Amino acid sequence: MENYILEVNNLNVKANTLNGIVEILDNVSFKVEKSKIFGIVGESGSGKSITALSIMNLLNKDTFNISGDIIFNNNNILSFNDKEMSHIRGKDIAIIFQEPMTALNPIMTVREQIEEILIIHNSCKRDELKNRVEEVLKKVRVPNPKEIMERYPFQLSGGLRQRVMIAMAIVLKPKLIIADEPTTALDVTIQMEILNLLKDLSNELQCTVIIITHDLSVVAEICDEVMVMYLGRVLEQCSVIEFFDNKLHPYSIGLIDSTPDNMKDNRFFNIEGYIPKVYEKPIGCKFNTRCNKVMERCIKLEPELITLKENHRVRCFLYSKEEA
Ligand SMILES: Nc1ncnc2c1ncn2[C@@H]1O[C@H](COP(=O)(O)OP(=O)(O)OP(=O)(O)O)[C@@H](O)[C@H]1O
Ligand code: SF4
Ligand SMILES: [Mg+2]
Repeated sequence: MENYILEVNNLNVKANTLNGIVEILDNVSFKVEKSKIFGIVGESGSGKSITALSIMNLLNKDTFNISGDIIFNNNNILSFNDKEMSHIRGKDIAIIFQEPMTALNPIMTVREQIEEILIIHNSCKRDELKNRVEEVLKKVRVPNPKEIMERYPFQLSGGLRQRVMIAMAIVLKPKLIIADEPTTALDVTIQMEILNLLKDLSNELQCTVIIITHDLSVVAEICDEVMVMYLGRVLEQCSVIEFFDNKLHPYSIGLIDSTPDNMKDNRFFNIEGYIPKVYEKPIGCKFNTRCNKVMERCIKLEPELITLKENHRVRCFLYSKEEA
């Protein structure tokens, strides 16, 4: 565990829905190395956010049935009660959401919101609060922090709101930051600024970052490691260099081929078909309805996630010796 800040083992999540009990995550396992930037990619509905919310222990227990282990700093935090978790949340692990407007309190100024975090976690003397707020806003490169801290969220641009969210996430110097689609709602130029900021902060604060995205250019730009998810499963995981040079899973190959950089004859490649609904998952390999390499055994059996070489895992019969 020494090199790893987080270890997720056999995370299974089921949800009670109008269509009955549906499986959302199936045996999701991965390890995140300290001080690295770990990307989770996959199309809509693959279970990225549910994985993030499980790590924060934020899933509603009435709707979701969760099992497995989530080891953070040698503790299985999935077994923590609300009180134990509230000590960790924000202080050791922080989360940044896609739409800051829903995560920020509309009737509190930026200063009041950041001060509240410091007060709740008893992390600063009263007469130092304002300085700490100014300091953290400077860290996330907010121009004129003294003026901006007195504003309400609706008085800020989208980019500034996301910087404020990041300031709130880092103010207690967490060891792990989970950023769930942190730039999707922003203009392209602001997206790059926010991504570079996250990368610089991770270096400066020696903190690990998990970035959730459906955008492979984000992965290429700032991640060290990447994990591909599909219908609640891990399909592939490896270093980012390995991924772009030597991805193996047909889904990963399709994802890369469908990025704008890989246009062929002026046309985008698209992965065929559509993502099945959670309650209509195919038998066998979950990608078999869209795979251009599908074989007979793929529609009967589901491949295991296997480790092919050090630090490269893939779930596909093309790479396993299992017989149908
Ligand atoms: N509250 C809920 N009740 C029932 N099912 C849910 C609930 N929240 C999410 N799901 C289902 O869980 C699956 C995984 O959802 P999740 O939000 O983790 O996907 P995602 O990979 O984050 O997708 P996106 O890219 O759209 O954010 C989806 O099929 C979704 O419909
Ligand atoms: S197991 Fe079969 S269907 Fe699934 S990705 Fe591999 S080749 Fe395609
Ligand atoms: Mg999501």
